[in-house]
Amino acid sequence: MKNHKIAILGGGNLGTSLAKGLIASNQIGYADIIITDKRDSQTALLNHLGFQVTSDNAEAVNKSQIIVMSVKPQQFSSLAEEISSALAPGHILVSTITGITHKDIENALGIFPIFRIMPNTALEICESMTCISYKNTSSSDEALLLALFEKMGKVLVIPEDMMGAATVVGACGIAFALRFMRAMSQGGIEIGFNSEMSQLITAQTVKGAARLIVETSNHPEREIDKVTTPQGITISGLNEMEHQGLSSAVIRGLITSFNKLENLNTGTHKTGK
Ligand SMILES: NC(=O)c1ccc[n+]([C@@H]2O[C@H](COP(=O)([O-])OP(=O)(O)OC[C@H]3O[C@@H](n4cnc5c(N)ncnc54)[C@H](OP(=O)(O)O)[C@@H]3O)[C@@H](O)[C@H]2O)c1
Repeated sequence: MKNHKIAILGGGNLGTSLAKGLIASNQIGYADIIITDKRDSQTALLNHLGFQVTSDNAEAVNKSQIIVMSVKPQQFSSLAEEISSALAPGHILVSTITGITHKDIENALGIFPIFRIMPNTALEICESMTCISYKNTSSSDEALLLALFEKMGKVLVIPEDMMGAATVVGACGIAFALRFMRAMSQGGIEIGFNSEMSQLITAQTVKGAARLIVETSNHPEREIDKVTTPQGITISGLNEMEHQGLSSAVIRGLITSFNKLENLNTGTHKTGK
């Protein structure tokens, strides 16, 4: 009998978001999670949040069933060395690590059920978009993992060769969306709102726009048509944004991130997001 259901190896930005999301989604309690990290400041913070923390990865693996690896890509091989002898039949491996493939994990750790996941930091409020690809899994492993992440947002199962694209649209995408929000908020200040008011109006408006698309599956342009009166103010603003290259800048930004990721994956050093 394992003491913990889940070990999160690497309690950084994403590992912490995952731990918070697991609690917020009422799936497991604090006693079911053990988190590891090497930085004293991070272990102190995680302790302060109520989590059980250790710097001993092998101990965390021994005590848990689901092993989530959430370190930077260049830290994967030393983490693998630390845990390989502690792994045993029954363990389920989960990796958030950008660019580390199923094959890389098998080569370093052997044959286990492996889930590569690409969530984003909205895990902590159970609003993540999590893309998942798996290997060596049974249908009960798949049901277990999908149910876990479905309670922390939306889940899409994808082939492994789409994980790079998922990284850019879903994981980097949260930063792209937030930069748009910052710009909108700053524009709001320029036309009269203080920063708190402008940020609130921006955030609720963007949330409403996102929910309209998630809940109706309508194409964004269909919703845009509903707010663009001929010769009106919305279409004038939109067209000016396009004259300044809004859509082009966003698409080119995504492609630049994707190309950088591809170059990292084909290079000798994997350094990540
Ligand atoms: N952040 C995101 O939104 C996001 C989304 C999807 C995927 N990812 C991927 O998920 C992984 C983690 O991302 P992150 O943003 O959470 O990175 P991060 O903030 O750097 O977190 C990784 C943590 O693991 C610690 N660590 C390093 N080696 C360790 C070891 N052997 N045992 C235990 N802990 C160790 C690091 O300590 P040090 O800082 O001292 O090295 C750091 O605190 C990356 O591969 C990233 O590409 C991130």
